[in-house]
Amino acid sequence: MILSSLSPFLRNSLVRNLTRDGLLAMEPERAHQATLMALKLGLVPPRRYRDAPELKTSLAGLELTNPVGMAAGFDKNAEVHTALGTIGFGLTEVGTLTPSAQDGNRKPRLFRLMGARGIINRMGFNNEGHVPAYERLRLHGSAAMIGVNIGANRGSEDFIADYELGVERFADIADYLSINISSPNTPGLRGLQSGELLNRLLSSVLGARARQKIRVPVFLKLAPDLDQNQMDEIAATISGTDLDGLIISNTTLARETVAGFPGADEAGGLSGMPLFDLSTRTLARMRQRVGTDLPIIGVGGVHSAQSALAKFEAGANAIQLYTAFVFEGMGLLEEIKAGLVEAVRGKKHKTVADLVGSRVDEWASTSILGSGL
Ligand SMILES: Cc1cc2nc3c(=O)[nH]c(=O)nc-3n(C[C@H](O)[C@H](O)[C@H](O)COP(=O)(O)O)c2cc1C
Repeated sequence: MILSSLSPFLRNSLVRNLTRDGLLAMEPERAHQATLMALKLGLVPPRRYRDAPELKTSLAGLELTNPVGMAAGFDKNAEVHTALGTIGFGLTEVGTLTPSAQDGNRKPRLFRLMGARGIINRMGFNNEGHVPAYERLRLHGSAAMIGVNIGANRGSEDFIADYELGVERFADIADYLSINISSPNTPGLRGLQSGELLNRLLSSVLGARARQKIRVPVFLKLAPDLDQNQMDEIAATISGTDLDGLIISNTTLARETVAGFPGADEAGGLSGMPLFDLSTRTLARMRQRVGTDLPIIGVGGVHSAQSALAKFEAGANAIQLYTAFVFEGMGLLEEIKAGLVEAVRGKKHKTVADLVGSRVDEWASTSILGSGL
């Protein structure tokens, strides 16, 4: 049967499944490179509809046409942010970018846990450094809001100075900056989440922002592996600052939810469905601590319209995802957006902003394995 004789719906779903299954049959990092190549070549399904008005929301002063984003790590070097905007993401986060280029860890460093719908990665901030990404962002715009996620070089003698360089480099071109102190794959990086170091980091980064011509919103990206005391400390430290928001969360070092799955013993950060409950509970617990005004982007294990809705109910103002696209394909984006519109209408709300935080306390007290989502 020739492809053109099929209805557009069948043709699209056939092509989608063929590409998704083909990619899943490839070695994970090669599959990622192939995906980037396809996006760079413009092999993207153009969005068929404008975003529904129910999806419009604002985040730290940014007007989003929809609140669904691509998480950091997918487009490390700002090569496909234009294509992701065309597909219909409301925001996309490039990076993590470090001042100098670095290779990252030895391969293999990316592992699919098929049955668990999870990924373990220990990429180690492989990226081309600030300059090439800056040039690409300068030359190519996007319909999506662009976040630039900044980090520190592995061998750097002064991590905090690397973040300052990131602010100075990208302040005039990013719609927002994301300060990534939660990757588990750069030794010492997560130490910046605590006490005096976080204080020093924030005053340097926000001081550097204040010296720029444009006031770019700054978000802090946190790990899901924080105990209640660490969360208290972070909330207290940020409360006296003009930080614009939080991104919760990065990958986890925990393995309870994947015990027994092949690959579960690999070192690195775990993402995808096995991270969903932990990251959503961390989000809700931080929402309880920071109150209703501070914007939070919810990330970690979103894989369906229902799990996307749960992030909003747990206190997120916008969401991001990455791992589920590996298993489900990019068609998931439209499914999530349609599900959110349906939820807004079903509850007789006006926009997604009205969904935020309706179940914070429930999520904050949930047992990690208990959501069933
Ligand atoms: C292969 C891979 C690479 C990643 N690289 C980065 C990164 O460079 N910087 C970062 O902040 N997060 C990175 N992440 C974490 C994601 O941005 C996200 O926080 C996490 O995967 C949870 O979302 P998910 O379950 O939807 O994937 C990476 C995730 C994966 C799977």
